[in-house]
Amino acid sequence: MNNSVPVSDFTVECLKLGKTYPPDITALQNVSLTAAPGEILFVTGVSGAGKSTLLKLICRRESPSGGMVMLFGQNLARIGSAEMQLIRRRIGVAYQDFRLLPDLSVMHNVAMAMEVDYRPRRLIRQRVGRLLEQLGLTDKERRPVSDLSLGEQQRVAVARAAANQPALLLADEPTGNLDEKSGALVMALFRELAAAGTTVIAATHDEKLHRDSGHQVLRLERGCLVEDTRHEKAY
Ligand SMILES: Nc1ncnc2c1ncn2[C@@H]1O[C@H](COP(=O)(O)OP(=O)(O)OP(=O)(O)O)[C@@H](O)[C@H]1O
Ligand SMILES: [Mg+2]
Repeated sequence: MNNSVPVSDFTVECLKLGKTYPPDITALQNVSLTAAPGEILFVTGVSGAGKSTLLKLICRRESPSGGMVMLFGQNLARIGSAEMQLIRRRIGVAYQDFRLLPDLSVMHNVAMAMEVDYRPRRLIRQRVGRLLEQLGLTDKERRPVSDLSLGEQQRVAVARAAANQPALLLADEPTGNLDEKSGALVMALFRELAAAGTTVIAATHDEKLHRDSGHQVLRLERGCLVEDTRHEKAY
């Protein structure tokens, strides 16, 4: 008899998700979405619409005031911290404020995610080298992050999030400080990861990034989901 827990077809499922920050700031209301392996999904909306809050709820950096998040078929409200640690290893996050270690080199910042996961050194060197090349950062690899421009730091944050070829990549404004050419490099990396099965969820103001991309776009307005291109196509 097969006693295994059924595994969801989706990497992420959010059901009627809500978040109110104290005392009474409603950042998100009744947001439902699904994201499948290999899917790229853009979350758009003006500043304050709730994009970062949604990403933080998905990776349990914040807890919801209502509704539910399922990751890899598991309800995040029902799992303990040890299980959450295992889940976090399958997630790469590029934060809006980067959260890099400024005194360490570019290489070291990107490699760190892989060292935590006990990957062989040779593999780490290869992977980091390739990522930095893909994002146009090879000539900066030995420089401390504090020497880099904002746009360069942003690409380091994306490289670090992608280092472990995560099952889920959350990217918060990954091209906010980038010109069109560097933005295209980031997008090419997202496509490559998605082709290998990663679910990519990117919060962005940058319409150029998602316009005519063919990927699903969710638009938030004052915390509510007001547009979901996938559902429009379905009807
Ligand atoms: N920790 C917090 N405490 C209180 N209010 C918060 C907190 N974080 C976010 N908010 C509020 O929640 C709302 C949504 O914020 P959020 O950061 O999710 O927006 P956003 O769409 O990511 O904006 P931006 O495009 O500027 O990054 C805003 O009104 C914001 O002020
Ligand atoms: Mg934000």
